Amino acid sequence: MASLPTPVSQNRLVPIAVSDHVDASSVVPQNLFFSGTGLRKMRIVRSSGQAEAFVDSSTLTTDVPLLSCLEAIERIRTNRANQNSKQQFLAMYSSIFGGITTDPGAMVIPMDDHMVHRGHGVFDTAAIMDGHLYELDQHLDRILKSASTAKIKPPYDRQSLRRILIQTVSASKCRKGSLRYWLSAGVGDFQLSPSGCHQSAFYAIVIQDESPFVSTGVKAVTSSIPIKPPQFATMKSVNYLPNVLSKMEAEENDAYVAIWLDGDGFIAEGPNMNVAFVTEENELLMPQFDKILSGCTAKRILTLAEALVREGKLRAIRQGNVTVEEGKKAEEMMLIGSGVLVRPVVQWDEQVIGDGNEGPITQALLNLILEDMKSGPPTVRVPVPY
Ligand SMILES: Cc1ncc(COP(=O)(O)O)c(C=O)c1O
Repeated sequence: MASLPTPVSQNRLVPIAVSDHVDASSVVPQNLFFSGTGLRKMRIVRSSGQAEAFVDSSTLTTDVPLLSCLEAIERIRTNRANQNSKQQFLAMYSSIFGGITTDPGAMVIPMDDHMVHRGHGVFDTAAIMDGHLYELDQHLDRILKSASTAKIKPPYDRQSLRRILIQTVSASKCRKGSLRYWLSAGVGDFQLSPSGCHQSAFYAIVIQDESPFVSTGVKAVTSSIPIKPPQFATMKSVNYLPNVLSKMEAEENDAYVAIWLDGDGFIAEGPNMNVAFVTEENELLMPQFDKILSGCTAKRILTLAEALVREGKLRAIRQGNVTVEEGKKAEEMMLIGSGVLVRPVVQWDEQVIGDGNEGPITQALLNLILEDMKSGPPTVRVPVPY
């Protein structure tokens, strides 16, 4: 393995400044924060049970343990293990500690990172399939574009970022799952301006996912949550509150997804996927990317779909404004993205799409992308050296 770039911000270990009543032998990284300032007023209990120190507990209703760094990490680790999550986090890279960890207890980011408390960060993903990263370079190009729009200067050049991502997947030993990564304004303070952040930060995490791709049809509703204005919808920043609320709205209505319309009432996208239609004229029709995220999967589908045109299964491929009327009377409707790949929509609001079943073009496009992930050209498949 080639060595990683020199860490940009190695945290000095500093003693915790606590009250006289507590043994302050523990050390924590400078960027780990204690919440609350009232140590003087707390009843401090060593988590290990030894040497309890009582300080004016009149304002306290429960005992809050004061933890050493190692104790805190151990608790994070235990907490993770108890979560019983279907997702396993196998490795994390952080430019804060300048390396990769496979210990879930260390997979944390500092509170004073501006991405955490101001949303000043951008992110992207890439699928891991059969020990290869799918469309890594396309996703890397997009995160760098998002970073530039968000005025975040990455801590390393493109080649180093790419090398770190590949090495993180290699260290994780994951062969199927996803890689998520973030560029943030960095750590420094809790101000609004990032001027106190001296160095941007880079984080990446590998998530194992062995579940098979599902291709059953889903229901969609129209989102009542406002879509982000084009300046923000076209970049992949961490500000996903509208997207989360939109997904929750779908779930509250027994649907899988809520579809956004743009400011002019045309069909836009879903909260983490693009949409496309097969029209009555047998055209593949997709909203253009000027006011929404330019999906890497959607762009790849536009290319792969050309095979269906050559085979006579599709008449044409078109990107443009799509009205709700056109969408709802389409023969097929589909969601397209790294997470769903290609997923049929069989009902939108009260309107049944086509004959209400998963359509043949949607299925053919799903097969094409699965094939591409397993045996596509080197431009879309980057091997991971394990
Ligand atoms: C808002 C939004 N639109 C579209 C997409 C699909 O993009 P991609 O295919 O690159 O995953 C995503 C993916 O996360 C998204 O968040």
